Amino acid sequence: MTFEPQSSFISSSSASNAGDPAVYFRREFDVDDRLQRATLRITALGIVEPYLNGGRVGDEVLAPGWTSYRHRVMVSSYDVTDQLVAGQNALGAIVGEGWAVGDLTWEKKRHNYADRPALFAQLELEYGDRTEIIATDEQFRVGEGAVRKNGIYAGETYDARLEPDGWHQAGFDDGGWASAQLFDWNLETLELPTAPPIRRIEDIAPIDILTSPQGKTIVDFGQIVSGWVRLAVAGEAGRTVTLRYAEVLTPDGELETETNRGAETTDRYTLGGGGLETWEPGFTFHGFRFVEVSGWPGAPEKDAFTAVVVHSDMPRTGWFETSNELVNQLHKNVVWSMRGNFVGVPTDCPQRDERLGWAGDLNVFTPTATYLYDVRGVLGSWLQDLAAEQEETGSVPWVVPYVDANMVPVPSSPTAVWSDVAVSLPWALYQEYGDLDILRRSYDSMTAFVRQVEPLLNVKGLWDTGFQFGDWLDPDAPADRPWDGKTDNHLIAAAYLCKTTREMAETSRLLGEKDDAARFRALHEKVRGAFRDEYVSRNGRVTNESATAYALVIMFGILDEDQRCKAGDRLAQIIEKADFTISTGFAGTHVVTHALSSTGHLEQAYKLLLNTAPPSFLYPVTMGATTMWERWDSLLPDGTVHATGMTSLNHYALGAIGEWLQRVVGGLNRIEAGWTRIQIAPKPGGGITSAKAAHETPSGRVEVSWHVEDNEMSLDLTVPPGTSAAVILPLHPDNAELEVGPGPHSWRYTLSEKYGAPIEYTMDTVLGEIFANAEVWAAVLDVFREHLPGVPLDAAATHLAAMPLSAVVERAPDTKELERDLRDVLSRANS
Ligand code: BGC
Repeated sequence: MTFEPQSSFISSSSASNAGDPAVYFRREFDVDDRLQRATLRITALGIVEPYLNGGRVGDEVLAPGWTSYRHRVMVSSYDVTDQLVAGQNALGAIVGEGWAVGDLTWEKKRHNYADRPALFAQLELEYGDRTEIIATDEQFRVGEGAVRKNGIYAGETYDARLEPDGWHQAGFDDGGWASAQLFDWNLETLELPTAPPIRRIEDIAPIDILTSPQGKTIVDFGQIVSGWVRLAVAGEAGRTVTLRYAEVLTPDGELETETNRGAETTDRYTLGGGGLETWEPGFTFHGFRFVEVSGWPGAPEKDAFTAVVVHSDMPRTGWFETSNELVNQLHKNVVWSMRGNFVGVPTDCPQRDERLGWAGDLNVFTPTATYLYDVRGVLGSWLQDLAAEQEETGSVPWVVPYVDANMVPVPSSPTAVWSDVAVSLPWALYQEYGDLDILRRSYDSMTAFVRQVEPLLNVKGLWDTGFQFGDWLDPDAPADRPWDGKTDNHLIAAAYLCKTTREMAETSRLLGEKDDAARFRALHEKVRGAFRDEYVSRNGRVTNESATAYALVIMFGILDEDQRCKAGDRLAQIIEKADFTISTGFAGTHVVTHALSSTGHLEQAYKLLLNTAPPSFLYPVTMGATTMWERWDSLLPDGTVHATGMTSLNHYALGAIGEWLQRVVGGLNRIEAGWTRIQIAPKPGGGITSAKAAHETPSGRVEVSWHVEDNEMSLDLTVPPGTSAAVILPLHPDNAELEVGPGPHSWRYTLSEKYGAPIEYTMDTVLGEIFANAEVWAAVLDVFREHLPGVPLDAAATHLAAMPLSAVVERAPDTKELERDLRDVLSRANS
């Protein structure tokens, strides 16, 4: 959406250097008492905090977020009628460096879009017969205040003593401030946003304040989040409290900042003195669970600290829960990694000197993301950036927003998973929302990508040249060559191109572009044929015997049905041979469980899901993870960080398992775009005795929940208005399938075979196995609480998963009673 700018950008007179204070702008103006309505439109090259008459305007933070500024800068609009008074008023704004001016990437490149923070504001005063505009111009004054230093990666330094009293109110003497100067910027880039703003979404209280072996004070919020810490502190003027943020502690209990890499992620607050002071930064954000506090006056109390969770304010649309606590924690980790990485731009990670819109991560995660949150706004806007940059540079950038060809070490060339997001993202959004406009808006970008790749294929139609990220972070790839996994990179490229060309042909057909549809269909057939000739035997054996290769050919429609069955068998053997550890990277992980469960290997899929030995889905959970990790072993079993620099503890890409959980364990499937037809087909397994999934579809909420007890299955379903559902009753003795319309439905039946092999619990059973059964775990936890008061043996103690019950007993002061009560619980569970 565009709007009519009637104002200009303004700035201070000099370019900013790293570590410079934020720029303060102010201007006074008159309002007469006939004012009917006032609207403030404001944005910045940098991050802007607007004020009127001393009060903060709106509740957005980190505005205007990061977009492809050269093409699109978002302008926030606020109804500020109630913040104005008849007479003299003051408009103020603080502008920090943000993404436009400050450091970006691990090479800390500055001035990526502008060499200094710049402000654009237009205050529209409507008087009925006329509209008066207060526009940013040279009448504005420019000064400094308490925000001494600020950077997205670096953090914020704030000296409360230096905040000019009343600077954003009428009557302030700004004689010592300078005049603003006009800053040249293309006003055609200004747009009204279609994505939701970034806001403070949740406050989290500390779960603990620790004193480290080195005597440091460390606050633990129990959850990795994106945002910052709000302080409430009283002390003498001039004292500085320093907060260093981190995702994890070292094994010996000190702050571990390795996963932040070169990002300083430190906030400093210097007290103004004279009573309780509340402060939080506004020109940075951090990815963290722990904060090391120094300079605190006296002993810090928990209520002095609040973690403020910050991200794009998207409506939540998806929920999932089972009887297995480890799986529940895995799903929570997926949700938290999405929250942590949807701070305006869908990023790879929120903590280190990167936080970039890496396209491949988003591509594999989107089907999960569309289930969890309404992402139309954030991803629709991101696709507009992608299209603009693709048009400008001739290629889909690997990271969007994209500054220039030097942004990442190698200029972006077409690759599978990363660049083909141009096709697969609009396609995935169309599947979720059923809105053809999504495809229409992206059509040029989608076709441009396919047309760019077409001449790169060999005569047969194989994509066999050029750089590829391959199965990025395959656990078997050398640590310094994450693109060099077991699966041939060009096999992966050719497989993804089969998928992309099919999606492209379908898109053209849906949009009535007949010639394109025929052409892309023919291209798809050619690419598929070339793939089969090169990589697949007649019996469905793939030349490259890896889990990723099999998962791709199975899931991307490359094989005939009988080949597909054989390939499924072979995939299951590979998975078994790897002892149900993960052997796939970014390209294969999001499809491997689907490939197993859709070829009759549900048991293997569950074993893969439930394994806790590294590398596995649940290993991070057993290590206490509260978000998804970048690599399966970002933290090694001894708690140290994998020494590769690629060890973020908050990366959503591998969280793509969320889609399988929702679809296969929960059983909630969309079989027509926009959820107009739904399939309910839970596939119970892995000893999980119940699961619930709910999703806010465009037509309303669909909910399914199944539960097995004493071999009785119950299934409850609510179908939204205007839709219908094909139900495949899980484990039904007659494999019953039926069609139902909107409204609630319930089924109860007896299973013909005993469901799930009962576990025989003993004192040698490891805690991990006990966590997996919510009821038994609850009973065991009661015993722990009685006999081990104060020991934090709750869900956060999942890092003890490998410990047998007997080992817990050995550590207890009174082993006898504890053991007796535990044995009691176990024998009840076994009976
Ligand atoms: C990011 C990844 C990204 C990759 C591609 C990394 O540094 O964190 O998630 O996709 O680079 O090169």
